[in-house]
Amino acid sequence: MNQDALKKAVAEAALAHVERGEILGVGTGSTANFFIDALAGIRDDIPGAVASSQATADRLKRIGIEVVELNSVGSISVYVDGADEINSALEMIKGGGAALTREKIVAAVARKFVCICDASKQVQQLGRFPLPVEVIPMARSYVARELVRLGGSPVYREGVVTDNGNVILDVWNLNIAVPRQMEERINNIVGVVTNGLFALRPADVLLVGTADGVKTLKRS
Ligand code: A5P
Repeated sequence: MNQDALKKAVAEAALAHVERGEILGVGTGSTANFFIDALAGIRDDIPGAVASSQATADRLKRIGIEVVELNSVGSISVYVDGADEINSALEMIKGGGAALTREKIVAAVARKFVCICDASKQVQQLGRFPLPVEVIPMARSYVARELVRLGGSPVYREGVVTDNGNVILDVWNLNIAVPRQMEERINNIVGVVTNGLFALRPADVLLVGTADGVKTLKRS
């Protein structure tokens, strides 16, 4: 099976976690896109969805699912999204698609976070994938210097402006031994909107696509 077939398989398996009749949260990226395609088959059971990016909102609308503002909903039953890396504690690095801040907000509101990915995203320690950090544009150089003080090598993602009008620094070489600590430390730098570590709010369930089928892991 190629990587796309694995992504499609986990996306379809995630339908079993969708609570019919409830507002759903939908993530961003190629795996989330397969999930949106799969949602088309049950769209009449979904009263609305909160999107973690403009791209996801557009795709949801195209298949006939109403996109609702987060401020107009009291709760989200389930949030389904991909990841760039995930460890055995279901802590993740996300933001390869620059949607990390909205993803983190929707994940914070959701009662359950279901991560969908292929086996290549599973790691022992987070950090080989460069950690995306969303930054207020005027603070870019200052934040970059502070990230160097933390041992990282930040690279400005040229030409990318987030849905929130900010910029992204991708941080290489960080030693993320304790993800929750690193997440807090980077978020405390003035000018950082948020960073792509999802450790304070990890996934609750991981559906991982392997050559032997979709495996389910639950956070203990
Ligand atoms: C978007 O900002 C990211 O967090 C994505 O969820 C993540 O990059 C996974 O994307 P793919 O499913 O395309 O690998």
